[in-house]
Amino acid sequence: MDLEVFRALRGPAGQGLLADVEAAYDERAAIALATRLRRDHPADLVAAALTQVALRRRARTKFGPDADRMFFTRDGLEQATTAGVAAYRAGRIAAVLGAEGSSAGVHPDQAVAAQVADLCCGIGGDLLALARAGLAVTGFDRDLLTAEIARANLAGLAGPDVPPDSPGPPAPGLPGRVHARVEVADVTDVDRSVYAGVVADPARRSGRGRVFDPADYSPPWSFVTELLTGTACVKTAPIIPHSLVPAQVEAEWISEGREVKEAALWSGALRSRAERSGEPVRRRATVLPAAAGLTDADDPGEAPVSEPRAYLYEPDGAVIRAGLVTAVAPLVDGALVHPKIAYLTSDRDVPTPFATAYRVEEVLPYDVKVLKRALRARDVGTLTVKKRGVDVDPDVLRKRLAPRGSAAATLVVTRTAAGSVALLVTPLSSSPPPA
Ligand SMILES: C[S@@+](CC[C@H](N)C(=O)[O-])C[C@H]1O[C@@H](n2cnc3c(N)ncnc32)[C@H](O)[C@@H]1O
Repeated sequence: MDLEVFRALRGPAGQGLLADVEAAYDERAAIALATRLRRDHPADLVAAALTQVALRRRARTKFGPDADRMFFTRDGLEQATTAGVAAYRAGRIAAVLGAEGSSAGVHPDQAVAAQVADLCCGIGGDLLALARAGLAVTGFDRDLLTAEIARANLAGLAGPDVPPDSPGPPAPGLPGRVHARVEVADVTDVDRSVYAGVVADPARRSGRGRVFDPADYSPPWSFVTELLTGTACVKTAPIIPHSLVPAQVEAEWISEGREVKEAALWSGALRSRAERSGEPVRRRATVLPAAAGLTDADDPGEAPVSEPRAYLYEPDGAVIRAGLVTAVAPLVDGALVHPKIAYLTSDRDVPTPFATAYRVEEVLPYDVKVLKRALRARDVGTLTVKKRGVDVDPDVLRKRLAPRGSAAATLVVTRTAAGSVALLVTPLSSSPPPA
């Protein structure tokens, strides 16, 4: 879709077409629908409307019902922050910069908090959340179409015919007055001095697909580190090595529905302090939607080691990435099964947002014959295999065990201080379910 087609899609004819596609859309019959619609509409407009509706359906997992009023590009949707994570981060920013009121002096309206720049705003995932949190925000993206889509998304969620950055009637989902706008610019050229803080979400995708090395981010890592000398929040991939996080910066690994979404880097006024000690936080794990947080200040740095007991705890991915597994041990009165393995064990069932808990039904040697017998005795037919610290391919092992019964079970193959074992476990309902 090019800019011209997108503009046509937002015009009266395009809106009518979109409504028709929404009403009749069925992924399996999309070709027939396109053929029919092309009789009355230009082919490129029909293609754009069909793509939008398909993307809106896919976007519901990220944006909920808002998705049906938004516009996307395929890349823009893939790279967008989920509404849950964006709202959490925006809330954290508003709690600090919002308190400063109109300190940037750009918007005299008292309802407006300090100005924030959303560098690399994409289609507006973070931008919308920042506006919703009551912050005055300017989004920047160098891609013309992407920026126009972000503008449309702001306007769409601010209610019909309300241009962004203008006083409007109280609107569904956005504050009554929307102080958000979007500019087309290379963010490395933006004058940041007028903003109380910046948010940046560099592109982690090039023409050749996803990039994993921060050196390949756009804008480049050198720009990111420069931002982090001021007041900033930068979204990075969860696999970011701890050694790349600059000193004086807090790294926060955020998971949602048990999936680690990102590592957010916080600097300047946005870096948080530990609740008890007041010391600046270096590492944090945040588990959404519970919004539960654990930091390096909570971490004793070591935990006892024990053979498996009555309960097994699998720490949340955010906790593991943040290197805070030993901080969960005291919470569940637990011990590690091995000094280098991210499983904890305890005699007690202690519900915690930071780990999925299992009751240990049986501790078995890691021996295929023994395991087959145990599964047969329990009539297991549906088997989930998890593993840590052992050279096992869960799919291959499941096939070799060939379970045939009617019951379901979970098998955890793990290294322990006494060697490899297989644990037959049952997930506890007190554990928050994965997404
Ligand atoms: C990861 S996406 C942003 C997603 C956004 N936070 C959201 O939640 O929807 C990154 C965006 O950065 C933009 N970008 C990359 N390099 C840029 C640069 N140097 N200047 C401006 N925008 C840039 C890309 O066009 C892309 O839209």
